This record gives sequence, C-alpha cells and structure tokens, in this order.
Amino acid sequence: MAERRVCVVTGSSSGIGAATVRLYARHGWNVVINFSRDPAPAEAVAAECRALGAEALCVKADVASDADCKRLAAEVDARFGRADVLVNNAGTTKFVALKDLDGLDAEDFQNIYAVNVIGAYQMSRALLPLLKRNAGAGIVNVSSIASMMGVGSSIAYMASKGALNAMTLGLARALGPAIRVNAVAPGFVETPWLKAGLGAERYEQTLQGYKARAALDAVMTPDDVAEAAWWLGAGAAKTTGEVLLLDAGLRLTRG
Ligand SMILES: NC(=O)c1ccc[n+]([C@@H]2O[C@H](COP(=O)([O-])OP(=O)(O)OC[C@H]3O[C@@H](n4cnc5c(N)ncnc54)[C@H](OP(=O)(O)O)[C@@H]3O)[C@@H](O)[C@H]2O)c1
Repeated sequence: MAERRVCVVTGSSSGIGAATVRLYARHGWNVVINFSRDPAPAEAVAAECRALGAEALCVKADVASDADCKRLAAEVDARFGRADVLVNNAGTTKFVALKDLDGLDAEDFQNIYAVNVIGAYQMSRALLPLLKRNAGAGIVNVSSIASMMGVGSSIAYMASKGALNAMTLGLARALGPAIRVNAVAPGFVETPWLKAGLGAERYEQTLQGYKARAALDAVMTPDDVAEAAWWLGAGAAKTTGEVLLLDAGLRLTRG
C-alpha cells in the first residue's frame, strides 16, 4: 500500500482549518493540526480525523514565532518524515470600523502582519525541506476577499491579506517548479471568527446583507473553502500563483 501523504494546516482547531484537515483525512491523508492557545478543540478535531482513518498530530505553535514554526516542522519530520501540502490558514485581526483611522496603530498592523504575512512566510520556509522531498507538493495560503474589495474587519487586515496575495506570487516563482503556491480568498465564511468579532446580532445582519447582495444568494461554509484548499493543494498540477476568490458571487452582485 502507498504511504499516506501528509497535510499540515496552521490554525486548524476551528473553522476553515478544521474543515480542511477533515477533508484531507477523508481523502486518505495523514494530517497535522496546529493551534496557538487551547489544545482541547484541536484534540477534538484530531479525534474526528482519526475516526476517518488518518493519523493526526496536534502541535501547539504560534506561527508568528519563527522558533515555533521550526519546531512544528521538526515534529512533522519526526512523526511522519514527510509533508506534501501546507495550508497557511492561521490568521488574526482587529475589528475596527473602516472610517475609524485612529482605531488602528502601528502595533495593531505589526501584530496582524506577524501572523497573517510573516507567519505564512516562516511556516513555508520551515517546511520547505520536507515539501521538496515529494513531487507535486503544494502550499495554499488562506487570504480573504478583504484584499480585493476593501471590505472586512479592518484596514490593517485588508492590507495584510493583500501582502499575502503578493507573497503568494513571489513564492510561486521562487519555489517552482518543485512546489506550487496558490491562495484562496474567501468572502463571508460561517465560522466562530466573525461571530466573535461582530457579536451575534451584527453577525446575523451582516450574513443576511451579504446573501442579499451575492449573485448566488449564499455565504461560504468552511467546507466550501476546504474543497478549494483540497483542489489547489492536492490537485491543480498546472496551477501556481493563483489567488482564487470564493465569494458566492458577491463581487458580481445581483443581475
Ligand atoms: N471567517 C471568515 O469569514 C473568513 C473570511 C476570509 C478569510 N478568512 C481567513 O480564514 C482563516 C481562518 O479563519 P476562520 O474563520 O476559520 O477562524 P477561526 O474559526 O477563528 O479559527 C482560527 C484558527 O487559527 C488558530 N490561530 C489563531 N492565531 C494563531 C497563531 N498565531 N498561530 C497558530 N494558530 C493560530 C486558532 O486557534 P488558537 O486560537 O488556539 O490559536 C484557530 O484554530 C484566517 O486566515 C482568516 O483570515 C476567514
């Protein structure tokens, strides 16, 4: 029997990351689940992946720390001896109204960039020796519609995801032909992220407002994003440097 391939997903104890490791596990891959704070949700996701037949490794690591990224890569090497796909999904933000320019300071930008941009860079670099061992390896960065439409939790967040898109292009050039590097840019996704940031009432209003404007009368689910992260990571043999908008037609609006 062929050796199982391995997918590493940062920030995979919740939301999009958790859906992504579940999908890779369902496809017969082993998975690495990462988080920075609470181990309990990560262990629950690992149990679901194991029930699907995968080996699942949980690693606490803050992607903003280069030492943590290197340790995570070393743990993957020790446990599996390989990595075939990296999904840079861990992200952070500060919810600040668009017009409130005083609501963001340099430290806010630096905290957000440290995870959303530098974290993805550090994690890609740390895992590179393992990814290079396997033909067809891929990196998928989880960006956001915020980078393309100037919507979302704050201007610092939008800018960080724009930087992540640009980094996707640079890494795609730098790491080809061995490794493909792509990104997904989701619109509104039903995860704890927006619920925590907006509060229950504004969450529901924003969800309904999004649906009313989107051509497909829908918002995204974590599984929708995982499906794209599966295709770009494990398939898409001739695709690199792509930033794929997943917005249920918000950009088009209704006809
Ligand atoms: N939800 C949306 O509408 C939406 C739309 C577009 C893009 N996105 C992007 O999708 C990604 C995932 O978001 P989500 O909605 O699935 O969020 P979520 O449900 O809140 O999950 C976030 C995950 O990231 C982990 N995490 C946070 N900071 C981390 C760090 N520094 N190092 C390692 N892990 C970290 C969290 O675990 P711990 O708390 O234990 O660290 C958790 O597992 C983010 O990059 C976000 O920008 C989300």
